[in-house]
Amino acid sequence: MPAYTLTVNGKSETVDVPADMPLLWVLRDVLDLKGTKFGCGISQCGACTVHLNGRPTRACVTRISAAAGARVTTIEGLSPDGSHPLQVTWQDIDVPQCGYCQAGQIMSAAALLAENPRPTDADIDRAMNGNICRCGTYLRIRQAIHKAAALSGDASAQPARPAVAGAQQ
Ligand code: FES
Ligand code: FES
Repeated sequence: MPAYTLTVNGKSETVDVPADMPLLWVLRDVLDLKGTKFGCGISQCGACTVHLNGRPTRACVTRISAAAGARVTTIEGLSPDGSHPLQVTWQDIDVPQCGYCQAGQIMSAAALLAENPRPTDADIDRAMNGNICRCGTYLRIRQAIHKAAALSGDASAQPARPAVAGAQQ
């Protein structure tokens, strides 16, 4: 079997798998990164969304041979400690219901904010269009994205504060 090397969440990984194995299988079953979910398997639901060289990508229909040499980010690698503005606002607003679709939702939203730091409702609806939520959390998702955009804007506008000993980071 061929070996494929890719960078996953900043770490170089080499996997010996068939060329047509979906990236989603590699992430979940070979690398044990279970945050990315299987929903439909045919690029229709968005549950498996990861970033491939920074672009939101459906891992269920991306062969490992197409991801060789690429930089892959999964929900586990979005931030080292769950402090990405989207992760913060997702919790503030209690976005998830069952939670199954949410990793994919956050990864699509993160790609949107990286490209467009102040998206309108229409921008959000367009970018998130392929991410299905059977629990219907769409309004909270949109709210959380706006809030994360504002949070990122506030953070970048403020001078960095020195760390305070004992403060929670
Ligand atoms: S599992 Fe990949 S889009 Fe549904
Ligand atoms: S929170 Fe249940 S499917 Fe989205």
